[in-house]
Amino acid sequence: MDLTLNIWRQPDAVTHGALHTYQLAGISEDMSFLEMLDVLNEQLNAAGEDPVAFDSDCREGICGTCSLMINGQAHGPEVTTTCQLHMRSFKDGDTITVEPWRADAFPVLKDLVTDRSAFDRIIQSGGYISANTGSAPEANSVPAPRDKAMRAFNVATCIGCGACVAACPNGSASLFMGAKITHLGELPQGQPERYTRVVDMVAQHDAEGFGGCTNIGECTAACPKEIPLDVISQLNKDLRTAMKQGR
Ligand code: SF4
Ligand code: FES
Repeated sequence: MDLTLNIWRQPDAVTHGALHTYQLAGISEDMSFLEMLDVLNEQLNAAGEDPVAFDSDCREGICGTCSLMINGQAHGPEVTTTCQLHMRSFKDGDTITVEPWRADAFPVLKDLVTDRSAFDRIIQSGGYISANTGSAPEANSVPAPRDKAMRAFNVATCIGCGACVAACPNGSASLFMGAKITHLGELPQGQPERYTRVVDMVAQHDAEGFGGCTNIGECTAACPKEIPLDVISQLNKDLRTAMKQGR
């Protein structure tokens, strides 16, 4: 298929960017979206132009590194990661607009690459369990009810891609944070730090410049791992308990 691409080009973090238009011919519908961008970059390299900078790592939907706004939708028209989006989702002759995540807390570094280290700092503030490790414990030594174990497992699939933030009109990271808080809060090992965790993570979230949640729900619609909206209720419930405890 032949395509017209409007791609955000920005040389660095401080220079203002703009959409640039490129023509691409002979793209197979079996290519992934990132492979299509690889073809564009080969074309740009051959012409002596600067290739488009974009993030990717596993290209298997696991790491959350690939993160693009495609025609105004986080990760494009399918509920999946950008690396798992295939060109069969588009038609011959389409015009595709590709932009970086748009959120104050994710500043653009170059072209389509954003700095998402704010997520790392939220995790560092409390998204972990402090436990002496040592040898692996016997599998059944810490009993967890099946429903809680399954819920923890399901929300632990969050890959930290940031689509929830990019899709949210408020630029809130509540779905991401709710996934981490629910994951750890469902398990026995997560209880000792449960209420300091939520206070510290919310404080870091706000300090990073993420917005507040107003229950719009765009986050869960854009999430490639289908993290449900009720993790935000869990976050708020834990935060309320922590405040009652005077934390
Ligand atoms: S909650 Fe979903 S959209 Fe948000 S970072 Fe996790 S996987 Fe990505
Ligand atoms: S490159 Fe790892 S999820 Fe897309």
